[in-house]
Parts: sequence; C-alpha cells; structure tokens
Amino acid sequence: MSNKEAVRRLIVLISNYKKTIAVIMICLVVSTGLNLCVPLLSSRIMDDGFIGGNKTLLIQLVLCSFAVYMICSAINLLKEKMRIDISAKIQYLLSERSFSHLMKMNVSFFRNKNYAEIFDNINVDISNMTSIADESVFFVFTQAFSMTGGIVGLFILDYRMTILVLLFIPIKCVIMKYFAKKRKQLIDSFIYENQKYAGWFGDTVGGIREVKLFGIFDDKHKEFSDKQMRVINSQKKVNMLSQWNSTTDTILVRILTTLIYVVGANMVFNMQLSVGNVFAFITYSAYVTGPISAILNIGYLLSGIIPSTKRYYEFMELAEENDNADAVIFPQCGDVELKNISFSYDKKKMVLKDVSLLIPKGSKVAFIGKNGSGKSTIIDLLLRMYEPTEGSLLLSGNNIWDMPLGKYRNMFSVVSQEIYLFNDTIRNNICLYRQVEDKKIFDICESCGLGDFITKVSLDYCVGQNGTKISGGQKQKIALARALLHDRPIVIFDEATSSTDEYSEQQINSLLHTKFIDKTVIVVTHRTNILNEMDQIVELEDGRIVKKR
Ligand SMILES: Nc1ncnc2c1ncn2[C@@H]1O[C@H](COP(=O)(O)OP(=O)(O)OP(=O)(O)O)[C@@H](O)[C@H]1O
Ligand SMILES: [Mg+2]
Repeated sequence: MSNKEAVRRLIVLISNYKKTIAVIMICLVVSTGLNLCVPLLSSRIMDDGFIGGNKTLLIQLVLCSFAVYMICSAINLLKEKMRIDISAKIQYLLSERSFSHLMKMNVSFFRNKNYAEIFDNINVDISNMTSIADESVFFVFTQAFSMTGGIVGLFILDYRMTILVLLFIPIKCVIMKYFAKKRKQLIDSFIYENQKYAGWFGDTVGGIREVKLFGIFDDKHKEFSDKQMRVINSQKKVNMLSQWNSTTDTILVRILTTLIYVVGANMVFNMQLSVGNVFAFITYSAYVTGPISAILNIGYLLSGIIPSTKRYYEFMELAEENDNADAVIFPQCGDVELKNISFSYDKKKMVLKDVSLLIPKGSKVAFIGKNGSGKSTIIDLLLRMYEPTEGSLLLSGNNIWDMPLGKYRNMFSVVSQEIYLFNDTIRNNICLYRQVEDKKIFDICESCGLGDFITKVSLDYCVGQNGTKISGGQKQKIALARALLHDRPIVIFDEATSSTDEYSEQQINSLLHTKFIDKTVIVVTHRTNILNEMDQIVELEDGRIVKKR
C-alpha cells in the first residue's frame, strides 16, 4: 500500500465524523478569538482602570475578563469531550473491524503467528491510528487563521521584510520532509522489532514448562535482552528524532529573528523603518512562524501514523474464509464423498494424493496410518478449513464449497486432535452459549465418563486457560460431551480417546451403538479396540490410501 493510499484511508476514517469535527473547529475558532481579547482587556484594566483611577470600570473589566475565561473553559471542555468521543469511536470501530476480520480469517493465517503477536500488532496499530484525532491535529487547523492575520500584519508593516519571513516556509518544508521521511523509516523499524519481540514473547510464555523442565532460562533471558534492546533502541531513535525536529525548528526561528534584527537595524539606520515597527514586526513574525511550524509538522505527525495504517489495512485485506453465505444449496445429511482429492499446504509438497472414498450416510469409518500420513488433513478439508488443491468433496452429491459455510459446519460435531477449552466453567465449555438444563448436561457427562468428576467439582468448576486445571483425559471427555450435546448428523473424532483410560475408552466406544447409532461417524485413531466396530477402515500412507476394508 502506498503512503498516499494510507493517508486517503485515514481521511476516509476521520471523515465519518465530519459534523462533530466542524463543531470542534467552531469551538476552537471562538475560543482562540476570545483569548485574543484578553490582552486588550488587560491593557484597559491597567490603563483606564488602575492608572485612570476608574474603580467601576476596573471591576467591570475584571468581571468581564473572568467571564471570558469561564466561557473559554466551558467551550474547551465541550470541545475536548467531542474530540475524546471521536477518538473512542475510531478506536472501537478499528478494533471491532479487526476482531470480526480475525474471527473470519483462514486458519492458515494462524500457523505462523501466536496470540501475543497478533494482539500486540493490532493494539499498536490502532493506538497509532487513533492519534489522528489528537488535540494537536485539530489545533493545527486553527493555526491557519492566526497565520493569515499575521501575514496581513507583516505586509502592512513592510513587504520586503515579509518576503524574508515567507522564505522560512520552503526551508521549513524541506527540513520537515527530511524529518518525516526519517521518522517513517524509524517507526517502520520500531514496528518490525516490536512485532518480532511480541511473537517471541508469546512463544516463550507458551513454552514455560519447557523452559523450566529443560533449564533454558538463561538462554531465553539472553534472547530477551537481545530482542528487548532492539525494541528499546529503535524507540530511543524515534524519541531522539522528535527532539532533533523541535530543536531544528527553534534554531530556524532564532535565525529568522536574528535576520530581522540585522535587516531591520539597517533599514532603521537608513531611515526606511521606525524602531517600533521593527519590534512590531518581530512580534507579528512569531504569529506566522509558530503556525507554519505547527501546520508543516502535520507531515511529521502523519509519518508516525502511516506505517501502522498500512499494516492495519494490509492485515484487513488478508483473505477471509470463503463463507458463501448467499449460496442456495443447503447442506443435507447424506453420503460424504471424497473424489480424487490432492492437497498441499505450501504448494510444494503434496500431503494428500488422489484420495477417493465414499462414506455412506450413517456409516462408521476409521482412518488409520502413521504420524504425518495425512489423516487430520482429510478432516480439515472436510471441515472446510482448507480447500483441496485438486478433486472435490461432496455431501449428498453437492460440492461442499457451494454451500453456506455456517450451515455446512453445523452438520458436524468435532472432537479434534488439538482440543481447545475456554477459560470458563465446565458448563459453559460444554454448552457454548446454549441454554441447556443441568440434568441434560449431567446425563451427557455421565455417558462420556465424566460423571464422578462433575459430582466432585460441579459444573461451575473453571477449567483454567485451555483446560490447564484439569487432566488431559478430562479435557478430552469435556470435548466429547460438547460434541454429544450439540448433536449433529456427522461426528468426527480425531484421536478423541488418546488420553482416556481403558475403562473410559470402552465406555466412549459403546456410544457408537447408542447415541451415535444413526450418525455418520468418522474416527481417526491409533488404537485398535474401536476398529471392530467400524464399517470401513481406511489406511493412509504418505498421503495415499493404501488399504480399505
Ligand atoms: N499447517 C500445516 N502446514 C504445513 N504442513 C502441515 C501442516 N499440518 C500438517 N502438515 C504436514 O502434513 C502432513 C500430514 O499431516 P497430518 O496432520 O494430516 O498427519 P496425521 O496423519 O494426522 O498425523 P498424526 O497421526 O501425527 O496426527 C505432515 O507431513 C505434516 O508435517
Ligand atoms: Mg493428526
């Protein structure tokens, strides 16, 4: 994405709040105007009130200046409230869009990224982008008014010296361009280092048990120092550049004032200008140089926001799942058919090669085979997590990709190889936002071999982050109970009983003759007990079907 496009998107973003921004601008202009009256009032208090000895006028003027102050404060509060509202709305809008997008993205996006990295990237970008509604940005626009007034004043005093002041503009432009370019580079590098650090941090915390068990704290600490120092150093460079920018600005203004003194003095000696005019000129030139710096610094400010804007919108443009929501072919429970399926994750190595298989409605099929032979990949293709590279997948004779995704996935109850439990109660992990009576949940838990455990801890027991407060077998049983409760026509078990004890395994296998008797059941397993209960056993080797029974 180009810088121009990023700026355009920022403008579109902020223009959602045009009306509020207009009111903010009016507030700013009114309060700036009122503030300009204060020196006038002060001089009258001094001249007519104190020196002129007019007590009544003095009190009136003091009250008047107090009223101006109060009105300005009220306007300022109102303006800030509106600005903070815009800022909050932008933050919510960007967060909500990115969250919805994230939930709909292809699973392949999550292969190389951990949650800390994703969360940190989104937060950094949104917080940078929200600064487009910072006070300083709005303030800049009002500066244009005082600048115009200042330039008019300067011309009236002396047009030759005005040209000297206006020469300041191109010089400042060139300098600002240099600093803005440099800042963009530094922010780019900061974002890059911070992203790497956040990814590493999430990865390390995720592997905390390995850090402890293999005693690799010192090595991880070394990595931490290296990565954190890179982040801090790039942040330091950004901060230092801001200092350089403001110092250069001050020096430039000083050079200009010195020049005005020198040229002005010359003109005074040549009787072309009065001393008073020179001093008035210096005061007016400050009305011009200050706003010019503020206005041109917008470029500098934007240079810090653009890298985040680009990264945010590039992320938002990453592919979402093809959900085919408007499709008219509704999934109906029937035979599942894999027709000459080939698949590769990386477009290089084929993981499935010409796999064909018919799974009749209500039948039970087991996939067996060595690790890495492609069993879970077949399941993921069936669940539309990935699209086959070649071949087609049919349900009741219809291509599964022609159906609305949500409705299609509702045909499946899945206990996957990598079960995830939310950091919530057992009840909520099983029901997943459905209202179900406790009696029904208890019965299902009982049939999954969880009865004793639930009686001991209750359904309100919190399982911890991804079920860390329960055992591996209990976790699998909760996932199984979840699949049973959601009662869908096709049931998939990928290593669903790999951690359960022998008694529980038999109990779970017996469900095939009871609760799952009418369902299509697809099992991936390394265990042999269940194979006798199956209508078909499909053995995979290196992505090919080598045996069917
Ligand atoms: N997300 C992925 N990206 C790239 N390659 C992958 C990915 N997931 C799996 N693979 C590769 O695809 C092949 C098949 O993996 P798959 O998970 O389907 O095997 P599996 O038969 O389920 O093995 P296991 O019995 O160990 O569960 C393996 O060689 C694996 O390395
Ligand atoms: Mg697997």
